[in-house]
Amino acid sequence: MTILRNTSYNFSEEQMELKVEVGTPAQWRGDGIVVTVFQNESLSGDAAQVDRALNGAIQRALDSKEFSARYTIHYAFYSMGALPAARVAVVGLGKREKFKLDRARRAAADGAKDLRKLGAKHIALAVTTDGLDLADAAQATAEGIVMGLFRFQKYYTEAADPLWEDDFRNQIESVTILVPDAAQLDTVRAAVERGRILGEANNFARTLANEPSNHLTPLHLAEHAREMSEKNGLEFYVIDRAKAQEKGMGAFLGVAQGSQNPPAMIVMRYWGDAEHKDKGIGLIGKGITFDSGGISLKPADGMENMKGDMSGGAATIAAMQAIAQLKPKINVTGIVAAAENMPGGNAFKPGDILRAMNGMTIEINNTDAEGRLVLADAVAYATKDLKLSPVLDAATLTGAVVVALGVYRAGVFTNDDELAETLYEIGEKTGEKNWQMPMDEEYLLALRSDWADLKNSGGRSAGSITGAWFIRSFVEKGAKWAHLDIAGAVNLGDGKERGYINKWGNGTPTRTFVEFALQQANAK
Ligand code: BES
Ligand code: MN
Ligand code: ZN
Repeated sequence: MTILRNTSYNFSEEQMELKVEVGTPAQWRGDGIVVTVFQNESLSGDAAQVDRALNGAIQRALDSKEFSARYTIHYAFYSMGALPAARVAVVGLGKREKFKLDRARRAAADGAKDLRKLGAKHIALAVTTDGLDLADAAQATAEGIVMGLFRFQKYYTEAADPLWEDDFRNQIESVTILVPDAAQLDTVRAAVERGRILGEANNFARTLANEPSNHLTPLHLAEHAREMSEKNGLEFYVIDRAKAQEKGMGAFLGVAQGSQNPPAMIVMRYWGDAEHKDKGIGLIGKGITFDSGGISLKPADGMENMKGDMSGGAATIAAMQAIAQLKPKINVTGIVAAAENMPGGNAFKPGDILRAMNGMTIEINNTDAEGRLVLADAVAYATKDLKLSPVLDAATLTGAVVVALGVYRAGVFTNDDELAETLYEIGEKTGEKNWQMPMDEEYLLALRSDWADLKNSGGRSAGSITGAWFIRSFVEKGAKWAHLDIAGAVNLGDGKERGYINKWGNGTPTRTFVEFALQQANAK
């Protein structure tokens, strides 16, 4: 099994091999192994075997409380000939009763990154299953490895090497996932392959999100989506400015008006259930390649983070790639509303009135509330023209959701509580955690306009809810819809690196979108 990390998008030449073999960490010969340890108990299993070869060094660290084995605590060292592997990473899992899938994901990432720091190129680890399904745990381990080792170094040249004393050049070349028993090989290989597909897709989303807006305009984003679609056998088309005019997508076009870079409504269609072409689900992403705020200009501090305002769109494109590769029996349409929000001579202005493709009029009172405008036409197109249901949208929509939930959970807003429940469950499994927010009708009052059907900004209070209500107003009657406000969860700005989650745009909710499509296919 070979991972061609990012190479399909020509963003990086980095390659890494991912293998599954029979063996144990204590016997494995190579540059480094990862072992995991539960808190408040003596060593067992692989960790105990490795510890015996090390004359009890890990147990002594536990006894002396130098190493607590708390979740997120880990360290690594050279084995000095005591083991066939040259380096050992020891990763705390916390208490056994709290162990769950996302801890396996993070542990794999923390261990692999520690070994990379120590110069290892070929590493191995076993799957920690304790109480988990073997396939789920193996998949999570692979996801953790592939996502954890992600780095975006496209713009570093050799000039960086003497400037920064850092480990950023060492590259892991192979990761071997060890199983104790040959009878597990088939299950674990299939699960690791799923994990690889999901991890790779997630990294694709990160790569797109990281790419700066001078290199990633709406048309460039569309080209990446086209290339991915052709490679994976998806139907693909773009609604360009002229076609959007024909369709009356005035909200979408209004946002794009101030930019020299034309917009693109990107459409990718996967036909997994060709006998029922009239049915299908929709995945929609906000694709603002740069959000300056427009005439309602944003302050300078942190504006650079707005290159990531297409993160929802990136996750949509990436999810479509994974769905095409995992082949569920369901039709899935991905739509990305891509545009650049700029103050230009032709920009839309506060006070302007736009008409969306469903005929509704919108008074603009803040050009910085642009995500909901491009999404208004995208959800109308998805639910009215394409008749998709349920539809999910993902958007870095509001600063307000960062205030409410921070970076640890995305806000979920829906016209169907069952969807919220499904998204909650998926989040606990994928680690892309969600939290439902209220949508009482009173909140809609903030969008009352004296001049048009709606105004686009409801002001500061309950900002993420009024933003969601705006989008909901363009969902065709009868269609189920949920909106994920990922402005915090996607980890832009101050978001820190933790485990498999990288420091910047982290690709969420790629795996949630994929898992949702898989579940909907099974539910039929
Ligand atoms: N893209 C921003 C939201 C954002 C902020 C994403 C911080 C990630 C980090 C969005 O287009 C925006 O500007 N929202 C406004 C809405 C307001 C004008 C109603 C906001 O949150 O201030
Ligand atoms: Mn904005
Ligand atoms: Zn925005």
